[in-house]
Amino acid sequence: MKKLSVAHLLGIKYLQLEDLHLIFETATHFKEVINRPIKKVPSLRDITVANLFYENSTRTKLSFELAEKRLSADVINFSANQSSVSKGETLVDTVNNILALKVDMIVIRHPNPGAAHFLSKQVDSCIINAGDGTHEHPSQALLDAYSLIERLGDLQGKRIAIVGDVLHSRVALSNIYALKMLGADVKVCAPKSLLPKHINSLGVTYSSDLMRVLNWCDAVNMLRVQNERMDLSYFPSDREYSQNFGLNYERLKKLRKEILVLHPGPINRGVEITSEVADSDQAIILDQVENGLAIRMAIIYLLGSQLNISE
Ligand code: NCD
Repeated sequence: MKKLSVAHLLGIKYLQLEDLHLIFETATHFKEVINRPIKKVPSLRDITVANLFYENSTRTKLSFELAEKRLSADVINFSANQSSVSKGETLVDTVNNILALKVDMIVIRHPNPGAAHFLSKQVDSCIINAGDGTHEHPSQALLDAYSLIERLGDLQGKRIAIVGDVLHSRVALSNIYALKMLGADVKVCAPKSLLPKHINSLGVTYSSDLMRVLNWCDAVNMLRVQNERMDLSYFPSDREYSQNFGLNYERLKKLRKEILVLHPGPINRGVEITSEVADSDQAIILDQVENGLAIRMAIIYLLGSQLNISE
């Protein structure tokens, strides 16, 4: 059986191109499984997974939990706001308590960049990063790239735009790493105040002209404005933001060709994208959600199969 080059999924940065292809191949198999009348396989019957969410989440949490259950793993869930974290317990203490229950794999979402990496050095368990602050969100980038390949074929030379709050978005950074590894040409578009200073070192180009970017690209990933991560004002108002960087139907209609529209969710309808676009045929937002389940099954299956649980 082919193996991943890593024992944890901490970020796209740590993966090789062969890892991406293996995850996509495995996800295609699981996509077929989840569309069967019997959607469950016994592959990970002996594995226990803990989902640790220190930040709010709807789709990522549901998607990981369902992926684990479809693989027949045992699942326990932990939400920081309903736990002893509010009594002052540290991350490592919490995790060691969970590991004492003989858990094999930990899926963690945390507001601090590097939390998953830190944990992988502190505890003896397989760690999956489900989003660490403004840093990485590898499973989202994998499902985005998979959804793009499904529609556009090989991404070599394809033009992908990432628009919006690049500064605070872990989706943007993980997408850039994945898309570049797959050979795509990536352009970011954002107000200057929402661009990270190191953007040039990531091998992407930049434009603040949304119409030019839309005319250039084959697909656009519209990022959510991360209001919860902004302690100051990065743009004058939502209205001005959507006038300059929001995707609406008038803009799409003026383009020379039809482009694909992605959004990681949750959507700020009327800010980065209008309802008309989000609900249109060009938007593949619900395909992303379906593919997310198959991708997460693939990640958990591949990492879970590499664990020596029988010893
Ligand atoms: C993303 C996240 O949490 O980073 N959402 C998700 O996982 N589906 C994007 C976002 O919150 O904007």
